[in-house]
Amino acid sequence: MSGLLVGGSGLIGGYLLHYFKTKTPEIDVRAPNSKKLSLRELNDIVGYFKRHKPDFVVNTAITAIRSDALLSYEVNYQGSINLARAALALNIPYIHISSAATLPPGENLTEEDHLPLDASMSNYAKSKLMTEMTLRHMHEKYGLKYTLIRMAIVYGAHDHKIQGINRLLFNIVDRAMPFMLTKKKGVLHSYSNASKVPYFIHHVLKNQEEFSGKHFHFVDPEPVELAKLILTIKAYMNLKTPREIYIPYPVAKAGNNFMNWVIKVFNRLGYRAHVPAEMIFLENFYKTQTLSCAKLKNSSFVDPNPRATVFTELPSLIEYYTARWEHLNLFSSFSKKDFNLRHPVKKKAGTSEELAAIFMDSPARLLDIVHNDGTAPLKDIL
Ligand SMILES: NC(=O)c1ccc[n+]([C@@H]2O[C@H](COP(=O)([O-])OP(=O)(O)OC[C@H]3O[C@@H](n4cnc5c(N)ncnc54)[C@H](OP(=O)(O)O)[C@@H]3O)[C@@H](O)[C@H]2O)c1
Repeated sequence: MSGLLVGGSGLIGGYLLHYFKTKTPEIDVRAPNSKKLSLRELNDIVGYFKRHKPDFVVNTAITAIRSDALLSYEVNYQGSINLARAALALNIPYIHISSAATLPPGENLTEEDHLPLDASMSNYAKSKLMTEMTLRHMHEKYGLKYTLIRMAIVYGAHDHKIQGINRLLFNIVDRAMPFMLTKKKGVLHSYSNASKVPYFIHHVLKNQEEFSGKHFHFVDPEPVELAKLILTIKAYMNLKTPREIYIPYPVAKAGNNFMNWVIKVFNRLGYRAHVPAEMIFLENFYKTQTLSCAKLKNSSFVDPNPRATVFTELPSLIEYYTARWEHLNLFSSFSKKDFNLRHPVKKKAGTSEELAAIFMDSPARLLDIVHNDGTAPLKDIL
């Protein structure tokens, strides 16, 4: 069996690619990048399907969340629909990842709920919602074999962008959130564990009859209170901020508008800056949005790790992302050294960390080490 994965270099696509590479020898998944197969180019899609004739398609691609209307339309909507049309021509399953951005605020929202389609929606939400609607239409009109998986706030490692929960983590760690941008109690959200998605997709592929033509919410069963999440990160990192002063929404919105204005002025003066893309979702910090997972629970899918929640994963996510962002020199005020003094991690001899320390302090010594023992031909290849 061979599959096409579009978006394999992204957060969710990365988990899928790793899963299919390591756990399913019987399934060969190819994940051409967007230079080889761009969803903006119909010819790329047609050419790929003609050459490779995949047995299924998974689409986890999206353009950057702040993209303009043209890019959002071409990649998120038109590209997804063209992929589905190709899948339809071969009569193969098409699995599409969607988002809770298509939903209004509310509790226990079902797969049937969605925002009314409206011109004033963000480009991202509009393109995701339109795709949901057109896929359903293609199923009803032509029998498209598709399964749509709606994700809420996704957590997982290896995300190249700083968005969603990672933006929250980044701002807390970098002390860019002096006060609480939410309500003290009662603002709940659903979270999706990226590492579990491949198990579900594999299960869907094995049980087409049950899952074809359906939409599913893929979220952890228990919603999470935003204030509790922020305070847990703060406590784990032993930070003083954000202080427990809760900024009301109208004040936060006015502050955000003011920052937008200031940044516009600075941009005119030649400085480049922008407000984080998620600020378009500022309202969500103050409103509950929880997705019902009853349909998923009542299906034949069995959660591979029911005890994993955003709280159980938090320590490893914090370790991973603070190290990553420090390596990339993204922090303005946080230093991992201070953090490691509180949470010491043993450095093993001969590891990359040790060699990186030598690289920093005595490069000539590292050159000697490598020249003595690290430049012979890689005989394993032969
Ligand atoms: N992350 C979240 O918090 C979240 C929450 C809810 C729903 N979702 C949904 O989950 C899905 C995956 O999101 P993600 O966070 O994993 O995305 P991501 O990390 O931003 O990755 C986006 C992927 O899309 C590909 N891509 C971009 N433009 C393309 C084009 N023109 N043609 C083909 N591929 C293109 C990129 O490939 P290249 O690198 O090769 O360009 C990349 O692999 C999306 O449907 C999103 O709506 C995500």
